[in-house]
Amino acid sequence: MLNTTEENRRRHPLHPDHPVWLFGYGSLIYKADFPYLERAPASISGWTRRFWQGSHDHRGTPKNPGRVVTLIESPGTLCAGMAYRITPDVFEHLDHREKNGYLRFSTPMTFHTGEQENGLVYIATADNGAFLGEASEQHIAHHIAASHGPSGSNADYLLQLAEALRELGAHDAHVFHIEAALLRTGQPHPTKNSP
Ligand code: BEZ
Repeated sequence: MLNTTEENRRRHPLHPDHPVWLFGYGSLIYKADFPYLERAPASISGWTRRFWQGSHDHRGTPKNPGRVVTLIESPGTLCAGMAYRITPDVFEHLDHREKNGYLRFSTPMTFHTGEQENGLVYIATADNGAFLGEASEQHIAHHIAASHGPSGSNADYLLQLAEALRELGAHDAHVFHIEAALLRTGQPHPTKNSP
């Protein structure tokens, strides 16, 4: 399986004493399984969230990958998410967790207060081996309804993300349309408190 851990270490050598902002736009919005110094809603410009990345190790398996979000360039679009200020050692954990195709990129972020900071964000680009790419929202919903992996069902991932976006007051038509299509399939039995 693809492993981006070493590439991420090379891309952004971090100073052990300097905390760094991390921008989360997927499961990081609703779940942080790492210590952080600060957490605040933020957005980035020029990117849109899409369920176009395959998940071999969390919400699917190598034989039946699930679908999880990545960011696709989209000039003029705002992507809402959650920012965490973390110590650089936390990236060891995150690089390992997101080794299935995600690379770190640097991005300007804007907080709800209007303040700006630079942050790092994990993006799975179209040239990674686990990338699945575009499909209709209906197709993606059926794919998600049928996928499960070591971190739980793909449906839970989608439903928790959609709920977290609503709590942020963020409208994301792609996510909400797939959520509606998934609920129409009658397949998912959401376990609200799953990790
Ligand atoms: C996130 O922002 O939630 C995220 C997305 C993909 C990989 C790692 C983190």
